[in-house]
Formats: sequence, structure tokens, C-alpha cells
Amino acid sequence: MIREILKMGDPRLLQVARPVDDLDDPELKTIVVDLYETMVAAGGVGIAAPQVGVDLRLMIFGFETSARYPDEKPVPLVTLINPWLEVLTEDVEEGWEGCLSVPGMRGLVPRATHIRYGGTLDDGSETAREAKGFHARVFQHEFDHLNGVLYPHRIRDMTQFGFIDALFPDSDLATLEKLKPAG
Ligand code: NI
Repeated sequence: MIREILKMGDPRLLQVARPVDDLDDPELKTIVVDLYETMVAAGGVGIAAPQVGVDLRLMIFGFETSARYPDEKPVPLVTLINPWLEVLTEDVEEGWEGCLSVPGMRGLVPRATHIRYGGTLDDGSETAREAKGFHARVFQHEFDHLNGVLYPHRIRDMTQFGFIDALFPDSDLATLEKLKPAG
């Protein structure tokens, strides 16, 4: 079932989400399915449970097709429960991001370029992965949602934050869609 996505300004997006403590809760399976359907319907590449008003440390991200992101390598689709993040470099890169909770806007956001992350998969097993570049950016964006952080909070130069059509007046939608994750 597609759920309503909360928009920036809703205080629920600013909460630190609670850990999932019962992996066998049937409600959890429903939430995972709903999150996935909501993400796909909204055309995002990631979504976190707090964005649909569910106070749990749970996120989904990834895309296989590179059609909408021709310059980006596919990111494997994954559901992560109680994820963790380890930053492996001091290198930070600025990149354009969008967010399903901040519709119509983009901002230039600094992110670590090389990370390890992990968590519990939806089959109950544990995973740990390394990621760089766009993959690392998407994870960090979604992980932030679990801590009540939205990408505009991280923008260092607020002149690089605005409405898509105003920031990129000469771009068509295909180009705009390359301008980073909606999650
Ligand atoms: Ni987001």
C-alpha cells in the first residue's frame, strides 16, 4: 500500500527513530512492502520509515536501471533494519540531492566519499558493505532520516539550495533526474 510521504516541517521527520526490536513482527513485513511501493510510486531511489510516519530504524534504497541515472552505476536494492555507518575517509564531496520529503527542490550537500555500512536484511541476516560515490551518498541521505536530519540541514552554502526549475532553468526533466537522489 502506498503511504503518504511526510514533508519537511512535520516534526516527525526531526525525531531520532527507534530501533526495530522484533524482527518477526508481521507488521514489519507490511511496512517494508509499503515503503518499497511508496518509493517506487514516488520515483525515488531511497526512502526511510520516518518519511511515512513510522518511527523505526528502517530504510530501503537502490535502483537497477541506469536509465534515469545514466551517469551512475546501479545501486543494489536493499532493505536495512537498524543500519550502522562507518565513515572511512575524511574526503567529502559536494553533490546535488533531492528528497521525497522536500519536493521540487535540490541542494548541494557534502557527503563522505567512502563508507562502510551494514545492518539486518529483511531475511534476518546481517550485512556489511563498502560504498563510494553515489552509492555512499544515497546511504548517508537515508541514514540521516533515521536521526531526524534532512539534507537541507547539511547544506553549507545556502545559495546552492532552491527550486529545481529555478536552479536549472535550461535543463529538461531527464537531466534534472540525474541531479541526485530523491529519498
Ligand atoms: Ni530524503
